[in-house]
Amino acid sequence: MSETDGAIGIIGGTGLTTLSGLEIAGTRTIETPWGAPSSELTEGRLDGQRVAFLSRHGNPHKIPPHEVNYRANIKALYDAGVRTVIGVNAVGGIHPDMGPASVVIPDQIIDYTWGRAGTFFEGNLDKVTHIDFTWPYDKNARDLLMQAATAHDVAFTGFGVYGATQGPRLETAAEIRRMERDGCDLVGMTGMPEAALAAELGMRYVCLGLVVNWAAGKSDHIITMEEIEAAIEQGMSGVRKILEVSMTGLGTLTALPQPS
Ligand code: HPA
Repeated sequence: MSETDGAIGIIGGTGLTTLSGLEIAGTRTIETPWGAPSSELTEGRLDGQRVAFLSRHGNPHKIPPHEVNYRANIKALYDAGVRTVIGVNAVGGIHPDMGPASVVIPDQIIDYTWGRAGTFFEGNLDKVTHIDFTWPYDKNARDLLMQAATAHDVAFTGFGVYGATQGPRLETAAEIRRMERDGCDLVGMTGMPEAALAAELGMRYVCLGLVVNWAAGKSDHIITMEEIEAAIEQGMSGVRKILEVSMTGLGTLTALPQPS
């Protein structure tokens, strides 16, 4: 058993390249059959719980969303013994209640990405596998995140449909209107195929979203890096707090039955 067995995996996105509060035990470079993950794994303890942290865009932040090696990231966490993953995602807000600096724990996904390596089940297969993906985010992990946030007075919204776009450009106002008609509440570039890959390996996966801007056409101005940085500055403390206070609960989750 490695130090990371049973650890919670945290994939940090824009604004969360390192995890403050993590008592670092060490770092590990993992190679996978799918190549190298975006960063080394930083292993340690957060509020007493073993954690493996991976920076989705690299450290420093330099890998754009469409070039992230999502397969290597998920497989590296899996190989390190992680079975529950929290994906932290910066997102744009479409739903009127999801303005900049709000924290959202979504419950559904619509995937608009294209051309990304999005499955482990391809190549020289013994059989074709279709995983169930009805509920992309693990219910127990979501409940525990929300309970911990509520108990510690951290504001969040506990529903939402995450629309995953290809990027790296932001959307047009018409694309956002279409996504709204489709039922999307949030828009981001990194939620997929990460969630599906975790599901393929039988891992629990949950998204902790931080809204960093109103989606295109949802405010009276264009989207600027300054407003994104200001929202990260304002909202990331809530994300960090939720991560910290949910660790004990998440650590009690048992492994899911392995897909056959
Ligand atoms: N669109 C797509 N991805 C994003 C956005 C957005 O408005 N904000 C942060 N990530």
